[in-house]
Amino acid sequence: MRYYGRATTLAAAGIALALLAGGCGADEGDGTDNGGGGGGSKKVEVFTWWADGGEKQGLDGLVSQFKTDCAQYEFVNGAVAGGAGSNAKQVLASRLQQSDPPDTFQAHAGAELADYIKAGQIEDLSAQYKDWGLATAFPKGLVDSLTVNGKIYSVPANIHRANVLWANKKVLDGAGITSVATTLPQFFTQLDTLKAKGVTPLALGKDWTQQMLFEAVLISDLGTDKFIGLWSGKTDWAGADVTTAINDYKKLLDYTNKDRDSLDWTDAEKSVMDGKAAFQLMGDWEAADMDAKGFKDYSYTVFPGNGNAYQWLADSFVLPKGAKNPEGTKCWLKTVGSAAGQKAFNTKKGSIPARTDTVAADYPAYQQSAIADWAKDVAVPSCPHGSACSQGWQGAVNSAQGKFSSDGDVAGLQKALVAAAKQFAGK
Ligand code: GAL
Repeated sequence: MRYYGRATTLAAAGIALALLAGGCGADEGDGTDNGGGGGGSKKVEVFTWWADGGEKQGLDGLVSQFKTDCAQYEFVNGAVAGGAGSNAKQVLASRLQQSDPPDTFQAHAGAELADYIKAGQIEDLSAQYKDWGLATAFPKGLVDSLTVNGKIYSVPANIHRANVLWANKKVLDGAGITSVATTLPQFFTQLDTLKAKGVTPLALGKDWTQQMLFEAVLISDLGTDKFIGLWSGKTDWAGADVTTAINDYKKLLDYTNKDRDSLDWTDAEKSVMDGKAAFQLMGDWEAADMDAKGFKDYSYTVFPGNGNAYQWLADSFVLPKGAKNPEGTKCWLKTVGSAAGQKAFNTKKGSIPARTDTVAADYPAYQQSAIADWAKDVAVPSCPHGSACSQGWQGAVNSAQGKFSSDGDVAGLQKALVAAAKQFAGK
């Protein structure tokens, strides 16, 4: 059942895992040897983009568990602010190139992780998986997305859902919208009603957030199988159904704020919380962030037309080659993979644990509904969050969509998407 109420569940029916195989800088120190830990370094620099709001609260939860489990080490916060790693990934790339890695960094499961593996930048953790009993702690499909040539390279902290439509309940009520749109045509009707009321119907931000909205439309217009096929090479980006999706997406842009290209996801979210906008398509880190910011009057549902598609992504942590404190990093990774660590993190982060031994009752209402959906929905990947495509492919789609946001050239966008797939698919 889906409705615009706070305790709604998202979608129905399906199967479990069909997974496709400056910033704020460090708070202190640089992870170098400070003479502690019997001559080894005590500091563990953890590099993420979780610098604020619900994201920071999630990280803080994990850190408090780390302090308990790994009291001999010291957490050093290397977070670089900016949604989806828009700044952090560039900083990380240059540090890796200069052989100055943090002790661990956040990487998305799937094709994005494979980038680091192929570049020889991260260590094989298969032995730790064995020692810590992790091989059976996570779903097999997820472990496959962390594995190359039989070696497992990272420890997943969570599963996020990308294709969620958030709303300000009061704004919807004020416009007399009480039903849930389950198709794009129904959604367009609601957006018209909101426009007539003088609010921004759909809040939107820059580049990667536009990729997310476009992917949600692709899922609605192509269905789950064909959407998955876009990334595996089975679905043609030049197809008529992709043209339909681009046209629908173009129509949606008309309902969004004009300053979208300069906003991060939290700016768009703020316009929803302030009642200036009604809806926002965003991943479920939004639940945690709205909670952290004390905004309670929100509702959520799966994006109209997405049915039982669970667009997944997973944050995972790695051991970089050349990390200054590999033993400290292993302690961090063990905490990340533990039941206690996953609970401390995910209860605050809006995501659900990657581990399968979750006790749903320990979680807020949103995550309880997500845990139920994850068990029965169809898993589809996300390009801007790395489960579907490499960072090169992400960048190419990003530029194409940035251009489209100003010129609205449907044929031009499709041509660029076809070229990006040709250049990056399978690489
Ligand atoms: C994603 C990440 C999430 C969340 C989001 C917004 O890429 O996986 O954990 O941080 O970006 O910043």
